Amino acid sequence: MRLIIEPDYDHLSKWAAHYTAAKIRQANPTAEKPFVLGLPTGSSPLGMYRNLIELNKRGVVSFQYVVTFNMDEYVGIPQGHPESYYSFMWNNFFFHVDINPDNVHILDGNAPDLEAECAAYEAKMKVAGGVDLFLGGIGADGHIAFNEPGSSLASRTRAKTLTADTIIANSRFFNNDASQVPKTAVTVGVATILDAKEVLIMVNGHSKARALQQAVEGAVSQMQPITALQLHPKGIIVADEAACAELKVGTYHYFKDIEKDNLCPDSLLK
Ligand code: GLP
Repeated sequence: MRLIIEPDYDHLSKWAAHYTAAKIRQANPTAEKPFVLGLPTGSSPLGMYRNLIELNKRGVVSFQYVVTFNMDEYVGIPQGHPESYYSFMWNNFFFHVDINPDNVHILDGNAPDLEAECAAYEAKMKVAGGVDLFLGGIGADGHIAFNEPGSSLASRTRAKTLTADTIIANSRFFNNDASQVPKTAVTVGVATILDAKEVLIMVNGHSKARALQQAVEGAVSQMQPITALQLHPKGIIVADEAACAELKVGTYHYFKDIEKDNLCPDSLLK
């Protein structure tokens, strides 16, 4: 696993956006062979989305032949609810770039048969040729997408009950009222994410320091689903300094040292 340590959230967001844009450009996607991108919601990726929008507006990267699959969606709130992940994605990203709406896939949390919806979602990813790059964030308890602690590391797309921790954390988007936060979500599984050719996880802020420490130094465990990234042949975490607060000094210096000569992805965009 690579661990890239950036000074702060702005640099982390730029790094993730430039890496993603460089991957899309390298793939040289076409209508017949699009680039398939897995996408997250949450506050962690917001800066990355802003940077990708800017790169798109400057003509550095196009999303015309990019197919997207979002990680997760709440169950039981209307699609047009301001806090649905559908609204989040359109407001924070899709409306601002040249993506073809037919290429956007987001789980339907109001589908009459959630099991069928999840199975169809997995099938669509396969038909698209699999995900080339899955982007993500993590919860303070080490969850990834809505794979809460205790989620099988072999899990596929399915409905999940949210934990009290996640409901409380996400209540900040629902007037700080935990009772307004949906109790269930549909989410890709841990194994669905690990199927991607590459996985890039953004981790920022002191509140994620314990989760990052587990992700990098902990043993693989269903109680910290992010640790499954250690099993991926091309897993990358990009973190800011604040998120590194719980790493051993030696671990911190180790990753700083082995990454110091690696090209910053923006150099690939020039
Ligand atoms: C939610 C999302 C996750 C996200 C996590 C952290 O539970 N389902 O995909 O990684 O929150 O969110 P944030 O980035 O806002 O801290």
